Amino acid sequence: MASYDDVMSLSVRRGFLWPAVDLYGGFAGFYDYGHNGVLMRRRWEDLWIETFLGLSDDYHLIDTTTILPEPALKASGHVDHFTDILVTCTRCGESYRGDQLLEAATHEEHEGLTPAEIDARIRDLKIRCPNCKGELGPARPFNMMFPLEVGPTGKDRAYLRPETAQGVYLNFKREFEALRRRLPLGLAIIGRAYRNEISPRQGAYRMREFLQAELQIFFDPATFADGLRFDAVASTPIRIAWATEKNQPGAHDIAAKDLVARDLPPWYVYHLAAVQRFYLDGLQVPRDAFRFAELDEKERAFYNKIHFDIQVKQESLGGFKEVGGVHYRTDHDLKGHEAMSHLKQSVTFGGSKLIPHVLELSFGVDRNIWTLLDLSYSKGERVVLRLPPRIAPVTVGVFPLVNKDGLPEKAEALHANLRKRLTVSYDESGSIGRRYARMDEIGTPFSVTVDHETLEGKGVTVRERDSQKQIRVKEADLTDTLDRLLAGEVTFGA
Ligand code: GLY
Repeated sequence: MASYDDVMSLSVRRGFLWPAVDLYGGFAGFYDYGHNGVLMRRRWEDLWIETFLGLSDDYHLIDTTTILPEPALKASGHVDHFTDILVTCTRCGESYRGDQLLEAATHEEHEGLTPAEIDARIRDLKIRCPNCKGELGPARPFNMMFPLEVGPTGKDRAYLRPETAQGVYLNFKREFEALRRRLPLGLAIIGRAYRNEISPRQGAYRMREFLQAELQIFFDPATFADGLRFDAVASTPIRIAWATEKNQPGAHDIAAKDLVARDLPPWYVYHLAAVQRFYLDGLQVPRDAFRFAELDEKERAFYNKIHFDIQVKQESLGGFKEVGGVHYRTDHDLKGHEAMSHLKQSVTFGGSKLIPHVLELSFGVDRNIWTLLDLSYSKGERVVLRLPPRIAPVTVGVFPLVNKDGLPEKAEALHANLRKRLTVSYDESGSIGRRYARMDEIGTPFSVTVDHETLEGKGVTVRERDSQKQIRVKEADLTDTLDRLLAGEVTFGA
């Protein structure tokens, strides 16, 4: 169990992430990553790419600009609809998100309410300004995009992109041509997005500048399911919380085929199963800490027809929290861009002419990193991050037992050899116990120690982070043993 302060303090102490610009008193909603945070994030991204681009040879990574001109975001609907409800105190001027004021008062989520509905509930619940107890002003929509003026005249209005998805839609036609005109076609971006959050008070959970990993799958709704092996997942229990249950703590296990029987399209459920595998098998999230939470018509994003949030339970954030979403966006975006640009977005494939529909698998990378720090944090006699070995920033620590008798030279040679293939940290400062503790705190799954017996040709010790057990391994077998341990082909001591 980890409190927010536990996770943040470890994170700062060990170089994962922390609030940005603290030299100038902080900058709400902005966070910086340190050396271990960047390594961990890259490992998460590698696993994401391997998992989701691995779903099909027709899925690819692209990269696009983070500033978009106003017409593109008018076409997507963001200029008119990408809003949160703002409530401002009439006395001290403090700003609040309307739904968060209600949530603080009732401990329930209140997404999707209109300004008038929020005003009425604020009145009923007699909510006053949490800062000064003053009277709250009327609720009103607030657009969450950061506006920009591009060029010297200021006439060309633009915005920092609020999601990576639009970059993909703007390039769909080019990639469709370049990739031999086939559907389904998957285009992914891992990149920054920006939202001018009204009150980013939930620490590293709600950032104004953040990293998204999003895969947009363009498909023909008439044929998408035919190309998927739904039978392979039909009996898989999927963890579901229906829209009416979002304020409850648990989830149901519902077989994929039963979700289809409840009118979710098979291609949608197939991808729920893929996302669930990523969390349960890839990231080793405990089953009861994972669920898909359905959003009803009022709650879901304006571009979605079917929308389940991906949620993971985190003690540091007080329960299930959204870390991503599985969104059926229909042909909303391409249609919007066709209407605004007057350039046809329809394609001909398999004898049909259509504007492709889009299934979006969307992930907040920073939220996923925080989630893994939370879930893996364990505190007893020692603090340990029990990260999955693939996600740990450093894979192997290498130490000389003592700093004399030729042990450092031997350990350095071992380190130089291992680092050709793995991320390895060499450390000779402080007692061996302190060095193990430093590795435990950054989640390094294995540590290799060179001792006097090593010099006698009796091998090195390999220590496992979680059990703290040690085994002796011949030097010649070390890389192979580490590879097999990391691949999970052998368990420690077996
Ligand atoms: N692209 C979907 C999202 O940003 O939530």
